Amino acid sequence: MSLIKKANNYIETNQGFVSDIFRPKFHFHPPIGWMNDPNGLIYFKGYYHVFYQYYPYDNKWNSMHWGHARSKDLVHWESLPVALAPDQEYDCDGCFSGSAIVVDDELVLMYTGVSKVNNLVNQVQCIASSKDGIVFEKYSNNPVIDQENLKNIGNTVDFRDPKVFKKYDKYYCVVASKKELNNDETVGLIYIFESEDFKSWSKASILIEGTKEYGTIWECPDLFELDGKDVLIISPMRVPENNGKFSNLNSVVYMIGKMDWENLKYECEFIEELDFGLDFYATQSFLDDSNNRIILSWLQTWNRTNVLSDMNNLWSGMLSLPRKINVEDNHIVQSIPENVMNQFNIKETSSISNDEYEFIAKNYNKFIFENEDNWKIYIGNSKDYSIVFEFNNNRLTIDRHLFGENIKGAEKNSNRRSVEMQSAGTIEIFLDKSSIELFINGVSISLTYYAHPQPTKIFVETSGNISVYSGNVIE
Ligand code: FRU
Repeated sequence: MSLIKKANNYIETNQGFVSDIFRPKFHFHPPIGWMNDPNGLIYFKGYYHVFYQYYPYDNKWNSMHWGHARSKDLVHWESLPVALAPDQEYDCDGCFSGSAIVVDDELVLMYTGVSKVNNLVNQVQCIASSKDGIVFEKYSNNPVIDQENLKNIGNTVDFRDPKVFKKYDKYYCVVASKKELNNDETVGLIYIFESEDFKSWSKASILIEGTKEYGTIWECPDLFELDGKDVLIISPMRVPENNGKFSNLNSVVYMIGKMDWENLKYECEFIEELDFGLDFYATQSFLDDSNNRIILSWLQTWNRTNVLSDMNNLWSGMLSLPRKINVEDNHIVQSIPENVMNQFNIKETSSISNDEYEFIAKNYNKFIFENEDNWKIYIGNSKDYSIVFEFNNNRLTIDRHLFGENIKGAEKNSNRRSVEMQSAGTIEIFLDKSSIELFINGVSISLTYYAHPQPTKIFVETSGNISVYSGNVIE
């Protein structure tokens, strides 16, 4: 039996045993098994397609397949058969992350095939294509980018996550890697390749090299033009904390800058974290049917307690909500796209002005504060058993350490964060069984929690009035 068939049979037979206890209502997650990065995001023939790093047989990371689902509205998802399985010599240790593009009316995926050559990890870029967007065929001449393309420049030990795009009638792809320094240390590095026909690819150019303050390797690069700027998104690993910033060991970072297409060099003008929460990694972008730039991320990060797996839950991992991004004043601002917002049944909720409020927690909760300088929000079952968001002295702090299962990570503190902010007047909170995504001034804060029973209430303390809008997702 082929590995794809084996995976699909397993999912079909076992998905009915998955408990709903932590299963989100409107965040994409796998039918059963482990998922991490979003892959191959694309709008193709009337559907949004999400592929994802997938191991169907267990709730832990293992030999990577590409899971697959599609959606008309980016909220309600239809699970599709597994698209790629590690069934070739060049990808027998995993089909790692990658992206999608339409070439001659076919949906083409570029992914990293992982295997071992002479006992060394060998990561090479491969393609697979499909006419119907469901059944994929790997290219007979895979890999299309390998050590040959890196000759005298680098090696294929850490060489992955190709993000493809078309510009000026040429195809390009950016690929993650690292550079060895002379004392055993490494820094992130991104390669760029070009192609006329998508099959034969140029020798590597170095798009950009990192410095030690931005981690030891850069994963999942994404390069695109947005609002007149060139944006580069990366997922750096083992970033040292810097004055309260980068307190997550592995995070997502964006750069605003300028691309020199002649020399294939990226010049960074501004660099910042993309999310100020606790669990957010491996962001990938795509264009929606109205040409908006949308991002999806894995709502988790590496080196953290895997609560779902420790509790023998049969699935693990989910994606963030789709977010529309724009560049304003050299910063990325995020918002939830209108078609996604339309999937929530939102109404104004009455509130009596007495400095302390109690609301029923809904999937969507929006607070507009009269006193923008000082407020506290508790999401939980009582104030003592909750996740706390507090704004004062131009700082927003989040703390989940008292609520739900204990989550530990390799960093100093995996449960608290603090972000500087001038004011915080309007807060939108999406709550979905085991995740919170909070939006404030175009900035996002994402985190997971695992608690049973679920948080049912939101308590708010503030002086002054608040207006409240809330509602649940339309199922
Ligand atoms: C990012 C990542 C990628 C890799 C994939 C493997 O989370 O480490 O670099 O392709 O996950 O599953």
